[in-house]
Amino acid sequence: MKGLTIRLNGDYLAHTHSIEQGNCARQMISVQGMEMVFYSMPQGVQGGFQELECPGETEAYYILSGRIKLLPQGEPEITLGPGDIFYFTENETLLPFHVLDPLQMILFSNESRFEQDAETNRALLDVMEALQEIDGDTRMHCDRVRKLAMRIAREMNYPASGLHDLFFAARFHDVGKCKVPKEILIKPARLDEKEYEMMKEHAAISAEMVRPVFGDEIARIVKEHHERPDGKGYPEGLTATQIHPAAAIIAVADSYDAMVTVRPYNKGKTPTEAAVELRRCAGVQFDDKCVEALCCYLQRKGLIKSEGRGNA
Ligand SMILES: [Fe+2]
Repeated sequence: MKGLTIRLNGDYLAHTHSIEQGNCARQMISVQGMEMVFYSMPQGVQGGFQELECPGETEAYYILSGRIKLLPQGEPEITLGPGDIFYFTENETLLPFHVLDPLQMILFSNESRFEQDAETNRALLDVMEALQEIDGDTRMHCDRVRKLAMRIAREMNYPASGLHDLFFAARFHDVGKCKVPKEILIKPARLDEKEYEMMKEHAAISAEMVRPVFGDEIARIVKEHHERPDGKGYPEGLTATQIHPAAAIIAVADSYDAMVTVRPYNKGKTPTEAAVELRRCAGVQFDDKCVEALCCYLQRKGLIKSEGRGNA
């Protein structure tokens, strides 16, 4: 029958094991604009439902068997069992959970959640973990940048069709730092000119690492995440209209995160100080629309006052 697809028992598109806590299994059973994932978790697993990152994203869970306790912050715990349903439409915080009995449940999502941890990304994810071991931050930095980039995109009504590329480009934008010598990567001081030149190579290296997995578009975004509207960025020295819009978003999220993150040699700016600095450089170093979108988001979250102007 036209339009009907049948895939028999066990014909999964992909599956992952031991993604979190070493003992969870996830098995994807369908994608096509929406996604359906079968989860099986042993008793005792503790984790969290991640915040939703895409505008209009919805996640619905249906419990087939077992029991799960949800632990919303500042609210009573809720225990759910077979036949129960819970779903998220605007979840901006992590929702902790505890599996009370061996759990089987199905996730329906209108975004591709599964792909984030799929085996195809495994090599890149492993590199990110290795980098985290070396410098103690790159993987976490990329995760923060990814979340912030998605917030900026939401704020500026970035086309939904581009969110997938933005998500993965942001997630792996610095993966090429694995080829930067360790002593440069973890140097607790300003880099000299030669070291900085070596550090700059990470943008092009990252692009070549993601290309075989994600293709040319995401590779381009990754490569351009240090370009500047005034043409003084790297590696190509592109100007405003030549820079991929997703790369411009990542550049702002990247710089904001670098500014507010406390490091041994950097006490970190306050969000207001960072916003003032981004606005000062808007249109020159950073895309002005992306800067404004970030500031709107920060203001809405109560992280900056006076739209980040003055009084830092
Ligand atoms: Fe970078």
